[in-house]
Amino acid sequence: MAAARSDAFVFFGATGDLAFKQIFPALAGLVRDEGFDLPIIGVARSGDLDALRERARQSLAAAGVVDRAAVDALASRLRYVKGSDDDVETFHALRRELGDARHPLHYLAVPPALFGQVVTNLAVSGCATGARVILEKPFGRDLASAVALNATVHEVLAEPAIFRIDHYLGKEPVQNLLYFRFANSFLEPLWNRDNVASVQVNMPEAFDVADRGAFYDRAGAIRDVVQNHLLQVVSLLAMEPPSGHTGDAVRDGQYKVLDSIRPITPADVVRGQYRGYQDVRGVAPGSTTETFAALRLHVDTWRWGGVPFYIRTGKSLPVTATEVLVELKRPPHSVFAESRPPDADYFRFRLSPDMAISLGARAKKPGEALVGEAVELYASHQSGNERAPYQRLIGDATRGDQSLFAREDSVEAAWRVVDGILDDRTPLHEYDPGTWGPDAATAILAHGDRWHNPVITGADASPDATGSKEAPR
Ligand code: BG6
Repeated sequence: MAAARSDAFVFFGATGDLAFKQIFPALAGLVRDEGFDLPIIGVARSGDLDALRERARQSLAAAGVVDRAAVDALASRLRYVKGSDDDVETFHALRRELGDARHPLHYLAVPPALFGQVVTNLAVSGCATGARVILEKPFGRDLASAVALNATVHEVLAEPAIFRIDHYLGKEPVQNLLYFRFANSFLEPLWNRDNVASVQVNMPEAFDVADRGAFYDRAGAIRDVVQNHLLQVVSLLAMEPPSGHTGDAVRDGQYKVLDSIRPITPADVVRGQYRGYQDVRGVAPGSTTETFAALRLHVDTWRWGGVPFYIRTGKSLPVTATEVLVELKRPPHSVFAESRPPDADYFRFRLSPDMAISLGARAKKPGEALVGEAVELYASHQSGNERAPYQRLIGDATRGDQSLFAREDSVEAAWRVVDGILDDRTPLHEYDPGTWGPDAATAILAHGDRWHNPVITGADASPDATGSKEAPR
């Protein structure tokens, strides 16, 4: 039986940061591109409907949505319930506002600590009947709290009604990792421990924590992006071919990878904090929250045994980019009398700010001598009309499509991976803003490996392009 389409959209935390930056623009996109015609009900502690409409307009202006008709259409769909997450009366008022709607989609854009309470109040007021919920990441604070939260939510809703959002799964370049791997045959024979020397996922961000101090200080880089976004990327890189066409076949494959990653030990992590972080509003004095993390993963499968998987991310690093580098093993014997620079054979997947795939190789330099240079065979795609991840994912949730949402088992498996290195269990190293983080990050690299620093080059920023060029390193 086809899943019922949601018939109302409710978002808690309507005056918050996430609603401003992501949810309003996503809804405007849905209204503009996909005929989204559901009533949209914002729930928040303060303000009124006019203030919410004004906030929506400001949000869309900030997001560069200039289509007047889309802005007006969204504003006209908005409704408002004033109240708080711990007051059951708010939820009764919401049920009244829902009117005839029987399949509301509730988006909990509130701190994860409030999820349990909101879901319970949804149940008590009848708002959970026939409903779906979208829960923001991070889902829980650690393995124990995620297990407890899953249990609480399951008291009210069955798994098909629970949408744990991770916007990385809604990104085109992340989906392309899955597609590129399994739509081509040339990769598969190489994609294993016999040929791959190491895999690294880098997600540097050049900006700092800015106005998110209060949220970030309770999270830190490992909870904020490693446990979710970056482990999801690793799962798509390392998974076995899915055994069917359903979204669940892919999610099964992702789960198996996450489940086979050995829990990270302190020896395989370096945490850092940029100088100046402690001055950010909302950050606790003397905070030991990490704004940088470098980790080494062991994926204990037949395919990947012994191949190091590295993750590195941080705020206030030199560039903003997300990039995967899959380094291949070197030829067993050097035919040419030249010392090879590192990173000669590799696949590079640029996930942001642009989308590109390149194959790094050595090619002979013109001339008498058999000496070469590093080149890249390069295919790029400049973002065009792709739907923004939140737009795509909210649209999927209204149709009951969970393919691109994190499943309970995967979320718990990902927490199991990082559970032993959360909080203060490992030392914290300071680093200067604008650098690549603490030097100590090299300590977790296996012999001969090095960190690969993504670079923003002119070619990466150009429109669709294919061809070859000198390697950007
Ligand atoms: C969010 C994190 O989930 O992802 C942020 O909370 C991070 O700290 C952001 O900056 C990165 O997302 P994107 O889509 O900009 O790469």
